[in-house]
Amino acid sequence: MMTSFPEKSEAVVIGASGGIGSAITALLAADQRFDTVHAFARQDLMATAEGVRVGHIDITDEASIEAAAASVTAPRLVFVATGLLHQGDQGPEKSWRSLDPNWLDQVMRVNASGPGLVAKHFLPKLPREEKAVFAAISARVGSISDNALGGWYGYRASKAALNMLMKSLSIELARSHKDACVFILHPGTVATNLSAPFQKGVPDHKLFSAPYAAERLLTVVNDATASQTGSLIAWDGQTIPF
Ligand SMILES: NC(=O)c1ccc[n+]([C@@H]2O[C@H](COP(=O)([O-])OP(=O)(O)OC[C@H]3O[C@@H](n4cnc5c(N)ncnc54)[C@H](OP(=O)(O)O)[C@@H]3O)[C@@H](O)[C@H]2O)c1
Repeated sequence: MMTSFPEKSEAVVIGASGGIGSAITALLAADQRFDTVHAFARQDLMATAEGVRVGHIDITDEASIEAAAASVTAPRLVFVATGLLHQGDQGPEKSWRSLDPNWLDQVMRVNASGPGLVAKHFLPKLPREEKAVFAAISARVGSISDNALGGWYGYRASKAALNMLMKSLSIELARSHKDACVFILHPGTVATNLSAPFQKGVPDHKLFSAPYAAERLLTVVNDATASQTGSLIAWDGQTIPF
């Protein structure tokens, strides 16, 4: 149970159709501390549990983000689980020779600008008293200091940009909301559509199921405090240097 949140809390999941996003939605819906869970996705969803309210969002369309934010009251947890690694014949670049401006723009729009705009419209909704969390899933490969292998230019750059956006948001938010937190999360390698083409070679014990990763990430969100706001935190609670 998410014991660090007050009873009857409201939660928001952005990207609730995804592997990790749908698992986060299911866990929050089953958690007694949350009586309303808004599940937003760009595709039509069915509410599968009591207390779940589905809604539309496309994080590359600011008007849809604004409309989604207008439909929630005072969420204690806003969890952004959207992301893009590959689409059609586009995917992570192995070499600078593959750099493509349209693909770079698209990855940046989904992985960095999108969550930034979600923050623009949802942060004003966070309650000022007691714990409130804005969490966005990033990735370890977005850590510049951790980059030993190179490649994956667009995805790495977009996650590094997301990390910086979230860090700045955390500083600004702390001025008005002393108990609020912005957490940037690394879920490990998780068996979802996003990682499907890249799972070869990942040992079984390092390939998490989406429900396991979701449970780990919500434990991080529950246990972490305002002193860790602006940090990049892995599924096991360890802080990853930027
Ligand atoms: N899986 C891993 O191993 C892994 C590792 C590190 C980090 N991550 C990060 O974890 C997060 C979740 O990924 P996942 O593994 O759960 O992948 P996923 O199953 O592919 O989920 C991605 C989600 O993002 C949504 N999305 C993409 N573009 C969108 C847009 N413009 N507007 C609204 N929603 C949009 C997708 O919606 P549709 O269903 O409509 O496509 C889907 O719900 C991502 O940020 C990813 O980078 C994953």
